[in-house]
Amino acid sequence: MFHHISPSILERMAHLEAVDARDRQDGTPKALRLRQIPPETGRFLALLAASAPAGQVLEIGASGGYSSLWLTLACMERGDQLITFEVDPNKARLARETFTIAGVSERVQLIQDDARNHLGNYQPVAFCFLDVEKDLYLPCYEMVIPNLAPGGVFVADNVISHQDQLQSFLQNAMSDVRVDALIVPIGKGLLVCRKPARL
Ligand SMILES: C[S@@+](CC[C@H](N)C(=O)[O-])C[C@H]1O[C@@H](n2cnc3c(N)ncnc32)[C@H](O)[C@@H]1O
Repeated sequence: MFHHISPSILERMAHLEAVDARDRQDGTPKALRLRQIPPETGRFLALLAASAPAGQVLEIGASGGYSSLWLTLACMERGDQLITFEVDPNKARLARETFTIAGVSERVQLIQDDARNHLGNYQPVAFCFLDVEKDLYLPCYEMVIPNLAPGGVFVADNVISHQDQLQSFLQNAMSDVRVDALIVPIGKGLLVCRKPARL
């Protein structure tokens, strides 16, 4: 799947990595930063999404489209489109620019709105990546998990970096009988939940 990384995708990834790194150092306010996943998280997400069963591939929190680019690699192999949500109009504009410059626009549908207004419309969900403000984790989780395909995978970022803030969300997910769940120490920590193929 990684052979789908074209020079235009690589170049845009490198550009976004440089912008994010610069903004983290120079005191750019949090709301204006891209707050991207690291590349190793992107590779892991792409592997998981490529291995997921048939169904929709969703992303909640596109920012400038960096993690979306990793997920489009999986979508190219799957023959699917990524559906990604971004509520901030400036970030959504940047993400669209990313998809155009990287040459993946036909692989991505960007919905510029609060994801919670739309999540219920997508099923079955093969794969969903959640990366937004932490108070939205539980509501987004509860909207997606019932629609997961058998064998479908839900992944949430920052569960180690924001462990304290996410404590009750994590307790809920780790004891949820609808999924098998594991915390994976890649990047800022990923919660990976998989709905069993047969209950
Ligand atoms: C941590 S950043 C995402 C980074 C991105 N996943 C990446 O790695 O490139 C979180 C993003 O979620 C967006 N967001 C916050 N609440 C949202 C919501 N309810 N629906 C959609 N997007 C939301 C924010 O505007 C922000 O751009």
